[in-house]
Amino acid sequence: MNKIFDAVILGAGAAGLMAAATARKGGASVLVLDHSAEAGRKILISGGGRCNFTNLATKADNFLSANRHFMRSALAGYTPRDFLTLVERHGISWEEKAEGQLFCANSARDIVSLLLREAEGCEMRFSTAIRSVTKGDVFHIQTDMGEFSARNVVLATGGLSIPKLGASDLSLRLARQFGLSVVPTVPGLVPLTFETPLPELAGVSLPVRASMGKIGFTDGMVFTHRGISGPAILQISSYQNGPLDAPVIDMLPGRDAREALGAIKKARPRAEPPSLLQDLPQRLARHIADNTLSDLTCTLANLPDKRIASLAAQISAWKPKLSGTEGYAKAEVMKGGIDTRVLSSKTMEARDVPGLFAIGEAVDVTGWLGGYNFQWAWSSGVAAGRAI
Ligand code: FDA
Repeated sequence: MNKIFDAVILGAGAAGLMAAATARKGGASVLVLDHSAEAGRKILISGGGRCNFTNLATKADNFLSANRHFMRSALAGYTPRDFLTLVERHGISWEEKAEGQLFCANSARDIVSLLLREAEGCEMRFSTAIRSVTKGDVFHIQTDMGEFSARNVVLATGGLSIPKLGASDLSLRLARQFGLSVVPTVPGLVPLTFETPLPELAGVSLPVRASMGKIGFTDGMVFTHRGISGPAILQISSYQNGPLDAPVIDMLPGRDAREALGAIKKARPRAEPPSLLQDLPQRLARHIADNTLSDLTCTLANLPDKRIASLAAQISAWKPKLSGTEGYAKAEVMKGGIDTRVLSSKTMEARDVPGLFAIGEAVDVTGWLGGYNFQWAWSSGVAAGRAI
């Protein structure tokens, strides 16, 4: 007769490996299955190869979810400090880039090695295609490497972003098969594309505040060949109501644009109108001047205040015309996923399907940029691992 594992974990990514390690330490027999040839491929490319593995300031407000309280219990049960302690126990050097944002000092591979060492004693099979999961007395997992049985199954195959790294909808499909509802999914933390691309601005970067209603992020923005990206844009993209819903972008963040332009007029009365844009990167300033000030031949002293006010409004409340987003090919995360209402917030187990767990990005919990998504993977993985 086939061995019956205490848990089969689908996905050897951040959340799956954390759940596997935790369950194994609790004495469970664990099998991890993954269709990729190696563990943690997204971890390896994360944080520009340095993996922003947590954020010390993590709280529920840093996540988007249909239930904004759902993540509290798991985050309290396994905190950023807990993960940092683990990182230090493994002798991994780290550095704090922005406040609270912790990265590996050397390589993201250090985090994958940590997880694999922590998960010692678990069986792991890579390059394994999962064909079906059914439930009788126990779960039966059919793969191209044979059938496996388990008392518990953990859905940990992540979200849909970056298909070329092996992302798939397996967890979402299995959730639906077992009657769990799924919140509609869209790309999150994703670059935006313009209706009319401005390739002449590609590479121009500047600090901005990008807002959607009451929520806004002050950080860098960079023009791409097709639109805009950079941390402020990725953050606000997660708050779009549809791909055409453009954020409002303030290119002089923290300053009153009208006052700033008025001060330039006063200081340089004999200068030409494009000098009003002296605080913006040169290429961008030229582009804006060509499109908004080219009819003017006067000096700043003779420029009507009305024109200054309208230029200030354009700079401080620019609403780009969008054609959409770069989609899952370039998104850092998937928004939406397995509905938190069908899961226990303490254990991540499906309320109506005993033994079925869902963790990590497959669940409708999406973090901001800055280490929050990995912290969710660790915390939800530990919550499930402890319950197995
Ligand atoms: P994850 O994607 O890590 O793992 C899923 C696993 O399931 C993979 O090993 C995959 O091969 C496997 N799988 C998928 N489909 C399968 C199938 N059908 N059969 C078998 N196996 C299957 N976050 C952060 O906090 N800090 C950061 O620095 C970054 N940086 C970053 C950069 C880039 C470019 C991206 C795309 C993403 C990030 N992220 C991030 C987000 C972070 O990588 C992500 O939220 C976590 O990896 C999610 O962990 P999971 O374990 O849920 O999925």
